[in-house]
Amino acid sequence: MFTTSELLEKINAHMARLQYSRPPKGLYEPIEYVLSIGGKRIRPTLMLMAYNLYREDVDRILNPAAAIEIYHNYTLLHDDLMDRADRRRGKPTVHKVWNDNTAILSGDAMLVLAYQYMTQCTESLLPQVMRLFSQTALEICEGQQLDMEFEQRTDVTEEEYLEMIRLKTSVLLAASLKIGALLGEAPAQDADRLYDFGMNLGVAFQLKDDLLDVYGDAAVFGKNIGGDILCNKKTYLLIQAWKLADKDQRQELEKWISASSFDPAEKIAAVTRLYNQIGIKTLCEEKIAAYSQLAGANLDAVNLDNGRKKELRTLMERLMHRTV
Ligand code: IPE
Ligand code: IPE
Ligand code: MG
Ligand code: MG
Ligand code: MG
Repeated sequence: MFTTSELLEKINAHMARLQYSRPPKGLYEPIEYVLSIGGKRIRPTLMLMAYNLYREDVDRILNPAAAIEIYHNYTLLHDDLMDRADRRRGKPTVHKVWNDNTAILSGDAMLVLAYQYMTQCTESLLPQVMRLFSQTALEICEGQQLDMEFEQRTDVTEEEYLEMIRLKTSVLLAASLKIGALLGEAPAQDADRLYDFGMNLGVAFQLKDDLLDVYGDAAVFGKNIGGDILCNKKTYLLIQAWKLADKDQRQELEKWISASSFDPAEKIAAVTRLYNQIGIKTLCEEKIAAYSQLAGANLDAVNLDNGRKKELRTLMERLMHRTV
């Protein structure tokens, strides 16, 4: 059995070998650009880890693992356009270096490349893998649509938020694990439990992302801080602040949410100040801990020795305490 860092090294080495230096440059250079910056690569790592719970020959699934990472990066190209985000992984986003159309079309090409790599798996398992992958990709579109629609609303509930992040984020972590398990020919029940583990891990992961968007260090996190505040994203932080604010605080929040012209730095500072007054950071951290617990219970239910599941548990804990 491999350690998490050994598996990460394998996926990194494999992805470094994939070449996109072909014409037209305008289509492929942005793909090379975004993939060369890397990122945490947790989705392919999760896929390899799940597979490795059942089989040792992990190199066999490096193409499907690359597929899930390329797919993830495609969602980021489009997400950064939708979120008007200028920085990612410490670098300017594709639509800033090139333009909006490039982010759309290079993103589209990455989606197709992802499908090409995903099909390079055991033939007999292909229908099952493709059904799950396609279902997941559609759910992510649904989640992203809800995320955008929620920007225009002020009555989004915690339940609606949780459903939205399950769709936009959790399903991909869950599917990465389940595809790894399917390819490793895990018992069906284990594959489902790993999927559930990914769902709860994904909720904790997105809550942490929302928290870092306000409280992270831009130099470490690699994205501009306060982007969610500027877009009026209905994050757990904003929903809770709205719910718990007193009359004056609610009025101030309302003022910033409805303002059509404002100084961005001023809005970020003001909303963050309200979050601090209301104690939102702790509430969010408690929610992250609660979902990590649920994920831990899902992992406990996977029918393997605890020793074999240790790497996944440690990775989960690291992700919950991450700064990047
Ligand atoms: C960013 O994902 C999008 C979210 C679902 C929060 P990651 O935080 O995994 O980004 P990278 O790939 O490591 O840059
Ligand atoms: C990520 O949501 C969801 C997808 C990319 C599908 P965010 O919009 O919060 O991700 P970041 O913060 O831009 O990475
Ligand atoms: Mg975004
Ligand atoms: Mg987004
Ligand atoms: Mg975010």
